[in-house]
Amino acid sequence: MVVLGIESSCDETAAAVVEDGRKVLSSVVASQIERHRVFGGVVPEIASRLHSEAIVGVVQEALAQSGRGLGDLDAVAVTYAPGLIGALLVGVNFAKGLALSAGLDLVPVHHLRGHVASNYLTSPGLEPPFLCLVASGGHSHIVEVRGYTQFRVLGRTRDDAAGEAFDKAARAMGIPYPGGVELDRIAEAGDPEAYKLPRPRVAGAPLDYSFSGLKTAVVNLLHNAGQKGEDVDIPGLCASYRRAVVGSLVDTFMKAAEETGARKLAVAGGVSANRLLRRELARRCGETGRELYLPELGLCGDNAAMIASQGYYEFLDGVRAGADLNAFANVPLDAGFPMEKKGDCL
Ligand code: KG4
Ligand code: ZN
Repeated sequence: MVVLGIESSCDETAAAVVEDGRKVLSSVVASQIERHRVFGGVVPEIASRLHSEAIVGVVQEALAQSGRGLGDLDAVAVTYAPGLIGALLVGVNFAKGLALSAGLDLVPVHHLRGHVASNYLTSPGLEPPFLCLVASGGHSHIVEVRGYTQFRVLGRTRDDAAGEAFDKAARAMGIPYPGGVELDRIAEAGDPEAYKLPRPRVAGAPLDYSFSGLKTAVVNLLHNAGQKGEDVDIPGLCASYRRAVVGSLVDTFMKAAEETGARKLAVAGGVSANRLLRRELARRCGETGRELYLPELGLCGDNAAMIASQGYYEFLDGVRAGADLNAFANVPLDAGFPMEKKGDCL
């Protein structure tokens, strides 16, 4: 079965053709990062307009590279939530028009479920159940993947997402958007002992995350150094900060693995590209005899191959949308479609 995936939830316009949920025939990603950098973050209105400009060419390119035509497709899978509403609507409306005109089934896909599926594309042998750490720019969740379309969220961030925490600290250090990637690179040359930073914990919720206090500690440290005219060891601060964020991500994830008895662990989302996170998880899984699945670097960030992959499994589960499909800024990962609690979705 051949699925065309479409993704436009944030600042990447993406389309991909995937066979049977596992084989990537093509994957095209048009990034808007350069256009947002000058503003220090994604400007929603600009993102929507750039998606509108790019989407036709990106879909055409994905079809051309796959060697398949519209007539070879079985379904169109599209990210409908969560994300920037105007950005999502571009992909959703394009997918609706295409599905209607070409007589294809339309499959709505939750963006974070798509991130989880990036692991199916990298590791052909991976099947649920497994435990997944989903860490992106907008979300940080520990998720029990019980089946391809069955999820249980065990823990989540109470404030900033891990990617957001990386980006905000990087910005405070003068590193341009999206700073998480660059902070990770600079940290490789820094001393992680250079600065003492707090290890955030959420009282009474051992599987939840909190990163805003850690970010504030870095902002205060930079502010105080600036007032005293002291130099800041930026590589050292990057390394110390990265160790604190990754330490929190990994310790809590491993605690969830112990509590649930999970032997198979996976990571997903933009932060899964973090070098220290990958090394630390490999070390901890090696020590405890657990299997670790990491998405290949090209599939960690936003892409449409992961949406087509998850779309395939949602399709098999009977999930379809009509021409009234809407986009939603927030939908819980485990809510399913149609959402059980529509009141929670806006
Ligand atoms: O999943 P993603 O591409 O978009 C969202 O769904 O949010 O995640 C983007 C986030 C950004 O915050 C970015 O800084 C972060 O992932 N990121 C990283 C790295 N690569 C991307 N954070 C830390 N280390 C990295 N190597
Ligand atoms: Zn994402």
